Amino acid sequence: MEKKKGGFTGSLGFVLSAAGSAVGVGNIWRFPYLAAQDGGGLFILVYLVLVLTFGFTLLTTDIALGRRTQKNALEAFGSIRPKWGFLGKLTFLVPALIMTYYTVIGGWITKYITVYMTGQGAAATQDGFFTSFISSPVSSVVFMLVFLAVTALVVFFGVEKGIERFSKVVMPGLLVLIIGVGAYTIMQSHTAADGTVRTGLDGLAVYLIPNFEGLTFGRFMKILLDAMSQLFFSLSVSMGIMITYGSYVDKDVNLSRSIGHIELFDTLVALLAGAMIVPAVYIFSGTEGMSSGPSLMFVSLPKVFQGMGPVGGIIALAFFIMLGFAAITSSVSILETLVANCMNIFKTSRKKMCLIIGGISAVAATVICMGYNVFYFELTLPNGSSAQLLDVVDYVSNSFLMPLISFLTCIFVGWVIKPKWIEEEMVASGHKFSRKGLYSFMIRFVAPVIMAILFFQSLGLVK
Ligand code: PFF
Repeated sequence: MEKKKGGFTGSLGFVLSAAGSAVGVGNIWRFPYLAAQDGGGLFILVYLVLVLTFGFTLLTTDIALGRRTQKNALEAFGSIRPKWGFLGKLTFLVPALIMTYYTVIGGWITKYITVYMTGQGAAATQDGFFTSFISSPVSSVVFMLVFLAVTALVVFFGVEKGIERFSKVVMPGLLVLIIGVGAYTIMQSHTAADGTVRTGLDGLAVYLIPNFEGLTFGRFMKILLDAMSQLFFSLSVSMGIMITYGSYVDKDVNLSRSIGHIELFDTLVALLAGAMIVPAVYIFSGTEGMSSGPSLMFVSLPKVFQGMGPVGGIIALAFFIMLGFAAITSSVSILETLVANCMNIFKTSRKKMCLIIGGISAVAATVICMGYNVFYFELTLPNGSSAQLLDVVDYVSNSFLMPLISFLTCIFVGWVIKPKWIEEEMVASGHKFSRKGLYSFMIRFVAPVIMAILFFQSLGLVK
């Protein structure tokens, strides 16, 4: 069976694989731009509270559901209560949607790897470099296809384990680079054309210190929805992935502790990435530059690397290669889920399914790339931010579908099978479930209410 093949060796193997899926462009690209867009400190504060409450609850639910049922998401719910089988199908929609644009971001990273390989770091600092890249219909598609091809090859040959072995080296390496570049950025200052001097330390203060001035209910709700969508995306929860990972974990692994490690590592990487990128944006473009959205990292970091002199190009190359690796481990986990489930549904071979899904993803991602050129539009989302095609798909999966799936999961676990069902699995290994009280309270009362509110807010019905 597929299961044994995926089985992890002990808790380290499990934590590394789950962290490989969790840590990706969500931490380094998405978290900093949302934090910057939402004004810094307040977003960070809200996010941290959410990780410790919702993040823990959702991650625990997914992993325990998987381990106890020994099934993937598509079948897990239905195997407990046949009537709830629809929820498994619904969760499947999320990775399918995310796959369409994850490879586009992967393509952007691939482009920057080649930029630094070919010594064009200086060109990348020019205003308009990134925009002209994504608005060129051919080049953005070519780089996306390269990234998708690497992802598909790994899944095609079923060699996920092989690349995960590198995680032990690459992930800490990426972390060290983020810390190093971040420390460098914070020590920098820049004099703008109008003579204003902005320092990295001021940027760090904007990033970390919550600013409650002029805070309205509407703005707070936007921050809450953004932070929650980030939490889902970053931890890969409420999309079936962690249910499947849970089904691979040995029965004697201490789930409580492993979940704590995944939460901690994922959040640490995101927080540090933000501390590297947001001060850089602040130095070069002030608070006005902070609302630029998905382009944030690609526009601000080249300027930091350039300022480092000749070594900057090498550091930049190392950074984008490691980031590319983190992105590959995540995109592999998405494609693997799609392929493994479809193999089950259509009873076909891994290779055939991989080709079919890879092909569909290539077409869908090409359309997303064209959202910046051929199909360009600007749409105002119900939360007030302006969006292109990529942002619309991101919004549908992370801000709309995930609160809905989480709401239904909370009702299912909190009220249908009851939290005890999960708690029993958490202590099945003979270890303590230390946050049991919090879990039960969150899953029954807090999470369903907040998820319902966020779902209606994502539709623009709560202002
Ligand atoms: N959690 C990953 C990240 O933060 O980049 C993204 C991700 C992985 C999303 C796996 C969805 C998924 F199924």
